[in-house]
Amino acid sequence: MKWLVIRPEDPLIQSDRLNTVWNHVCSTVFPDSSGGLTVLHTIDDLDNLLKKPAVLTGCRVLFVIALGRGGINLTLSAMIRLLRLNPGCMDGSAAAMVVDGETEMYTKSAASELALALSMAGCTLIGRCLVEGTGSLYNFTVTARNLSTDLFTAYKESAAELAMRLSDFSFPHRGAPRILCVHACNKATSNTLHLWDYVKEGIRPGSEIREISLRNKDVKDCAGCSFETCMYYSKNLSCFYGGTIVEDVYPALEWCDRLVLLCPNYNDALSASLTAMINRLTSLFRKKPFYDKQLFALIVSGYSGSDLVARQLIDALSMNKGFTLPGNFALTATANLPGSIDRITGIEEKARRFGEYLSL
Ligand SMILES: Cc1cc2nc3c(=O)[nH]c(=O)nc-3n(C[C@H](O)[C@H](O)[C@H](O)COP(=O)(O)O)c2cc1C
Repeated sequence: MKWLVIRPEDPLIQSDRLNTVWNHVCSTVFPDSSGGLTVLHTIDDLDNLLKKPAVLTGCRVLFVIALGRGGINLTLSAMIRLLRLNPGCMDGSAAAMVVDGETEMYTKSAASELALALSMAGCTLIGRCLVEGTGSLYNFTVTARNLSTDLFTAYKESAAELAMRLSDFSFPHRGAPRILCVHACNKATSNTLHLWDYVKEGIRPGSEIREISLRNKDVKDCAGCSFETCMYYSKNLSCFYGGTIVEDVYPALEWCDRLVLLCPNYNDALSASLTAMINRLTSLFRKKPFYDKQLFALIVSGYSGSDLVARQLIDALSMNKGFTLPGNFALTATANLPGSIDRITGIEEKARRFGEYLSL
């Protein structure tokens, strides 16, 4: 297995804490081979590798990133730009990331920006691919309690566990996929639903498809029950409110191995029904994270902002709920008036190829 460790070096940022975390990962996960790991630090290191054919493909890639007080690592930003300029450069690789902050903010946003760039470069993100150390490490309170240890030890152990999961990750099996599509689109007018019709034309024979429409259903948002109450419902494969989420979505999600969400951009975010559905998955997630399921999406914006919707999906479903995020997980388009998706040159063919890809 080819391992690549990417530690973007910014002269204005120094993190002794992250160095200690990294040393712990090396000693527990790579005790024999840490000397032999390829470690990239600079934008030139990455650029040089990109010039060699296929060096970045088929690797396990661990990002180890310090953000500093300002929350921006300029070398990381330059690396994200390079990834965006080289689609497919990380085909067949799988990645995870440790992000260390000095304040309570920016770790998650830096991680999701990187995750989107990686997916668009063809790289798979393993479910729950992020271990973040916020300035106070308060985010490790529950992990520390569960491990009966202090916050910093919980951070080190979480980083080592992440590297181990990346090492053990196996790509999902191919062939005969069970595809679940969930949406809340208007059948008569929606560009996003029309795009899904084109995608279906490309889905390979042997695949099974189920579709659930949440439109005009009473999809209540998560009630925010206590942990104990949520666990009680979780054991019974249920949730406080019941209804279509429990009766239709839960069993279909258990059945599928690929989830496709149809996401019109509503105020630079997911629509309320889809957001409520995702929040209501918490009960199912408590039973088991969704590591064995892959997330795909069709995202249509009237004018702009599909990247924001894509990042919301990455954060909520992959980083939080554990869905595996495949390379090129989202097909995006810009179309506003009903039917205007058809004015995009080549959209039908592009959608058909996406259908082929998601049913590989
Ligand atoms: C409530 C609402 C909010 C919207 N907000 C945005 C927006 O913030 N940015 C944008 O580009 N388009 C926005 N749109 C336009 C839709 O993204 C656009 O119509 C697109 O075609 C997808 O929706 P559709 O599948 O219903 O056609 C919004 C539409 C609605 C109904």
